[in-house]
Amino acid sequence: MSQRMTLITSPVFIPEARLKDAGSLAALFDNNNPLSLEIGCGIGDFIVQIAERHPDQNFIAIDIFNQGCRQTCSRIERSGLTNILMMRIEARYLMYHYLGKDSLQAIYINCPDPWPKERQRKRRLLNKDFLDLALYCLQDHGELNFCTDFTDYGESAAELLSQDERFENRAATPYTHDLGNYPISKYMQRFLDLDQPIFLCRYYKKTRLQVAAPNLSKGFRLRWAKENH
Ligand SMILES: C[S@@+](CC[C@H](N)C(=O)[O-])C[C@H]1O[C@@H](n2cnc3c(N)ncnc32)[C@H](O)[C@@H]1O
Repeated sequence: MSQRMTLITSPVFIPEARLKDAGSLAALFDNNNPLSLEIGCGIGDFIVQIAERHPDQNFIAIDIFNQGCRQTCSRIERSGLTNILMMRIEARYLMYHYLGKDSLQAIYINCPDPWPKERQRKRRLLNKDFLDLALYCLQDHGELNFCTDFTDYGESAAELLSQDERFENRAATPYTHDLGNYPISKYMQRFLDLDQPIFLCRYYKKTRLQVAAPNLSKGFRLRWAKENH
């Protein structure tokens, strides 16, 4: 992947080496509040809104795009919020190597890369392997929130989630276009401005599930993790 790289020196930016030294993300916050993860935070507008609403929770925003990480850090600093940290890291790599079992209260994935062409669809983040990893990392009743503007991604994610008996739906239908008070990200706003509906899926992990440790199977972008760490 070629991208313009800028050194990020923000105090809210956590290089992987620092996380490794700290031993856990919880150790990097000054409290034991529940932790939520936003995957692919873009420029950080969603994470600031959700963290502002929940000062009693900690948030980790991640992206693999250096310029997005830089903008997210600036946004977090400007907000004055102390309950958000940012990392430039691949989602499954972070979840598998650093987060682990029952570590997350919520996962947010907003407008992930859609990979619209039929032959690219296997690159999509949300698939059965990802759900296994997400369930492993989520606590009892932890939330998986996913939204996209791509109809077939929205429909297939909703089908996968609604047919997985380990999840409970927060809505009456497998997906909804009614966003309620769900915070709006940059990409969501872009599509709403074009009158394109957003497909929102909000599911809970059922309580008292026995979830086996997942394997980190091959997946698109995991090579990125290998090359960048
Ligand atoms: C289409 S953008 C959406 C950004 C933001 N969520 C929004 O709604 O405005 C998708 C973002 O996900 C990031 N991304 C894609 N795959 C990722 C992965 N495996 N781990 C972490 N970030 C990823 C991309 O770099 C990009 O910034």
